[in-house]
Amino acid sequence: MFPEHRPRRLRKNEVLRSMVRETRVSRDFLIYPIIVREGTSIHEPIDAMPGQFRCSPDILPGVVKDITSKGIPAVLLFGIPRHKDAQGTSSHRKDGVVQQAIQVIKNAVPDLIVITDVCLCEYTDHGHCGILNEKGEVINDDTLDVLASVSLSHAKAGADIIAPSDMMDGRVGVIRDALDEGGYEHTPILSYSAKYASSYYGPFREAAQSSPSFGDRKSHQMDPANVREALREVALDIEEGADLIMVKPALPYLDVIRVIADEFDEPLCAYQVSGEYSMIKAAAQRGWVDEDSCIMESVTSIKRAGADMIITYFAPRISELIA
Ligand code: PBG
Ligand code: ZN
Repeated sequence: MFPEHRPRRLRKNEVLRSMVRETRVSRDFLIYPIIVREGTSIHEPIDAMPGQFRCSPDILPGVVKDITSKGIPAVLLFGIPRHKDAQGTSSHRKDGVVQQAIQVIKNAVPDLIVITDVCLCEYTDHGHCGILNEKGEVINDDTLDVLASVSLSHAKAGADIIAPSDMMDGRVGVIRDALDEGGYEHTPILSYSAKYASSYYGPFREAAQSSPSFGDRKSHQMDPANVREALREVALDIEEGADLIMVKPALPYLDVIRVIADEFDEPLCAYQVSGEYSMIKAAAQRGWVDEDSCIMESVTSIKRAGADMIITYFAPRISELIA
């Protein structure tokens, strides 16, 4: 006898499929990353990320108005300074590139949520995420002071959310203290809690000119093989005062997103990184996959795995696709 159950009954047409759909993608939780380069009139394509641009602060009003018109509520800023040195001092200048960018954006579109990435690798001449000792190792505790200054300078410039991506131990607590002492006790911290030492950051490092000049980031970013360690990282960040937590990259780490979503109540963000973007773009350019449907399938999967918010370079396209 044929089984009573025919799951295909509920897949008969799109109206029915839509009624029983478990996961929906909405523009309300999308965050668009922008790489800002110090200078003027810069709007240069990023080779490894077709469709993405580096732009200078003066160009940003047009960019963010377009983002806002597409209903995207938030942007994540990265900066490329003119001047890099061993200590990454351009990262916490009052008139630094990100500090300028925040002000330009806040003037142009006051309601757009401005999140700022906090790390030193775009600002150091050696490309490492912190201060180095004579052996070329990143010194955790000396780096914390600089990260705290960067965070405070972003908050002073008007940033809505501070997002440390450096993976130094104890940085959330130190940044929380600095913000509170500076009178920014209402500025939330979005911690890149489970950030893996991933090869999928390749296109971004080209875009942000932030590749390490020697070595790698494995002494602070997480080993891709570990998931229990991600739970420990998240627990520590929450203890130190993180308001929002993150898993990065997204698609290769859906299992990590799922366990963290199940285990913790804090809003969870997932970052669909540059390599995830460029792989879809490259395959689509060759005609090997359909770009739009791969975009929607990937963000649907990230949402289904348990992410509340998604940082993605596809945000403007997703917004167009969901109409
Ligand atoms: C800075 C930082 C990186 C990314 C976000 N913040 C690069 C890195 O850790 O090397 C990657 C973003 C992307 O790939 O889209 N530490
Ligand atoms: Zn870094």
